[in-house]
Amino acid sequence: MIIYRARIFDTPTSPFAGGSLRAEADASLVVDGGLIVARTDFSVARSAHPDAEVVDLREGVLLPGFVDTHVHYPQVRAIGHLGMPLLEWLDSCALPEEARLGDETYARALASEFLRGLTSAGTTSAMVFGSHFATAVDALFAAAAEVGLRITSGLVTSDRNLPEALLTSVERSVSESQDLIDRWHGSGRLRFAVTPRFSYSAGPELLAAGGELLAANPGIWVTSHLNENRDEIAGVAAIFPEALDYLDTYDRAGLLGRRTILAHNVHPSDRELGRMAEVGASAAHCPTSNSALASGFFPLRRHLERGVRVALGSDVGAGTGFSLLKEGVQAYFMQQLDPAGGVPLTSAHLLYLATAAGAEALELDAEVGDLSVGKRFDAVLVEPTPGEPLAVGIRHAHSDEDALAKIFAMGTPGDIARVWVDGETVKG
Ligand code: GUN
Ligand code: ZN
Repeated sequence: MIIYRARIFDTPTSPFAGGSLRAEADASLVVDGGLIVARTDFSVARSAHPDAEVVDLREGVLLPGFVDTHVHYPQVRAIGHLGMPLLEWLDSCALPEEARLGDETYARALASEFLRGLTSAGTTSAMVFGSHFATAVDALFAAAAEVGLRITSGLVTSDRNLPEALLTSVERSVSESQDLIDRWHGSGRLRFAVTPRFSYSAGPELLAAGGELLAANPGIWVTSHLNENRDEIAGVAAIFPEALDYLDTYDRAGLLGRRTILAHNVHPSDRELGRMAEVGASAAHCPTSNSALASGFFPLRRHLERGVRVALGSDVGAGTGFSLLKEGVQAYFMQQLDPAGGVPLTSAHLLYLATAAGAEALELDAEVGDLSVGKRFDAVLVEPTPGEPLAVGIRHAHSDEDALAKIFAMGTPGDIARVWVDGETVKG
């Protein structure tokens, strides 16, 4: 039993649905075996649990652990190539690096660097785009099991339009995926996701094989890319002349449902948004990637109006790093600048998008996403070095929302002092 005494910010009710920031200057979370069993005044917590260890975190601000709904494990060394649109960036930056994961030693090194990137940025749960190599996906799951993060991931599959080393066949993709499902899905905090890279590199038979895996293994997930770039969209239309649109390439393969997370969706049609809302699929919004690759402005307003679930993704390595604080402020910038009329976002919206929204997208919201009683203690302590601009800004903020805005505007992984998953320390 531990009592964490802290200044706590979270968003138990969506600010897009009338909720606001829940901010407490001095609250105590009583955590027993990773579970938050009480949230109360310190004196009440203390007298109820006189022998409990007390951890005083009041020098910082305690937030729920961040949830990244789209991040590529093989691209941890490919962050920061600027100046190219999607297909050129894939060919010259991402894919040559992804081919190196055929070497197991290389993959193990990357798995460790990748998980370090997540924990260091305060990410405690993630939908991780895996590798084209089953051995590399196995290495990721094994490393994630050791670190303890909540990871959903899978074997990336493609059968065209990529370098030969990254291609598979229907039979191989099914047998390797099934082996990984049997080994890892439901083990601890790990889950499997069917992961066709995108319909530009996965033909109808390969997508349908993924749909069959999904039908045969209830509870597994699906992730892929959607409507990111105009050239990509035109290429998909040429490969799938019979499909209604890009989304329909996944839908007709049986890959679209409540447990489907599709990254980007920068250029959706109204039909696609309506269909995503109907089945409860989620869009992973990746604003630094959309900016770096000049993919376009994410139409958040249209997603919200249609009722499509949206959460944040870092999209490492097209995105510029693991920080969901950076993704949050970039989402804010892009909504401000969108010539089509963006949604004005407050700091509470940004926190929601980086935490509870992701937990809902991943159906982890019964366990994590905010710091209420009954949730697991997945948390991040933002504690900048005293005297640094963020520390000064938080100290002189004129409201809790203002302090949180400063955290998004200025916060970096260097300001994340401690991170817990299920009550276990994973950083700090
Ligand atoms: N579409 C297909 N693969 C990728 C990728 O690795 N990154 C991004 N941003 N889009 C993709
Ligand atoms: Zn991606």
